[in-house]
Amino acid sequence: MRIVLGVAGGIAAYKAVLLLRLLREQGHAVRVVPTRASLEFVGRATWEALSGEPVTTDVFEDVDQVAHVAVGKGAELLVVAPATADLLARAAAGRADDLLTATLLVARCPVLLAPAMHTEMWDHPATVANVATLRARGVHVLDPASGRLTGQDSGPGRLPEPEEIATAALALLEPARPADLSGRRVVVSAGGTRERLDPVRFLGNRSSGRQGVALAQAATERGALVTLVAANVGAEVLAGLSRGVDVVHVESGEDLRHAVRAAARAADVVVMAAAVADYRPTTASDSKVKKSGGELNLTLTETTDVLRELVTDPPRRGQVVVGFAAETGDSEGSVLDHARAKARRKGADLLVVNPVGDGRGFGTSTNEITVVDGAGDVVTTAAGTKLEVSHAIWDAVVPVLDGRAAGTDDAASMPA
Ligand code: CTP
Repeated sequence: MRIVLGVAGGIAAYKAVLLLRLLREQGHAVRVVPTRASLEFVGRATWEALSGEPVTTDVFEDVDQVAHVAVGKGAELLVVAPATADLLARAAAGRADDLLTATLLVARCPVLLAPAMHTEMWDHPATVANVATLRARGVHVLDPASGRLTGQDSGPGRLPEPEEIATAALALLEPARPADLSGRRVVVSAGGTRERLDPVRFLGNRSSGRQGVALAQAATERGALVTLVAANVGAEVLAGLSRGVDVVHVESGEDLRHAVRAAARAADVVVMAAAVADYRPTTASDSKVKKSGGELNLTLTETTDVLRELVTDPPRRGQVVVGFAAETGDSEGSVLDHARAKARRKGADLLVVNPVGDGRGFGTSTNEITVVDGAGDVVTTAAGTKLEVSHAIWDAVVPVLDGRAAGTDDAASMPA
């Protein structure tokens, strides 16, 4: 994908650096077009180094290349972050007094503007009118986030987080998704649990929660009412979610078990994408464990298998249960051999298998998966961004859900 990233002159220009990295990590070619004023905040060298492309601000640079037309014509997606009050005004007026506004006039691709400015400027009737004009023309203008602004003031006007901007921008290119989860209630667990050792230490794992968050996002895009049970998922990962997803934060496997089962009482589908600890320290110390020389022995107790319990003691009859299996493959069998055995052992309706290790799976923005059914037979395979993979997973879940008699609300008893 060929993306143009416009950067206007605001302090939030530094966040556009992170946005550029995100877009590059997802494999997109990004041409950065800063305004001259924005170079006061982030310099040309940063943009050139991180994008690997030339950076110009004026229509009189690279005249032989006709840059003021070529950049906009070649764009498949145009994002401006931050979009200042001045940039919005110039875009609304249809001006072409620098390369960015000229590019905005020439481009015929989807355009997303992510505003950032002081609250007074955002609320001013001139800006309100400019935003309305741009939206009426089909330009997507994000609402700014609320919070601390450049000085001591706070309020609406902050640039949304780079993850949120990237999700919103790339969503403009997504094919229209079927509303096949409309009215369905979905619970997704994501992230990695932390099992307390003492007040400052825990046993954890490397799950970032990105795949689970993408699953929740994909489900909302298809019309579902989604509860995300998030185990230690970073704010920057959660920022990729549309507003409207109900997020329940948990820390340990036992917290997660209770939160998932409570939400699952009303759910049609439960997806266990979280990496839940298999063991926790048998006792957690109330005070910090001191170094005493030599070895420290820990005794661990097996945790409840939340997925297995959802199958054997369902909070709601007829609900579809989906598990995950991160596998490496070993001398005993391939990734798929282990997955097939796990599918039969766990008894979930579907098991999503992803190979991990060698930099695959954890913390990355792409994934490759195979979905197997309860008998271990392959239903589908997919590779791509975690959002694309998520839609492939929902494509496999929906027929199972549609084939299921509607659930009832007479929930089984909650675990003690
Ligand atoms: N899971 C769970 N509760 C646990 C452990 C795992 O619900 N205490 C769920 C995960 O959310 C995932 C699936 O079980 O959906 C697979 O987890 P995994 O750790 O791969 O399975 P295990 O049965 O622990 O198998 P292994 O021996 O390979 O670790």
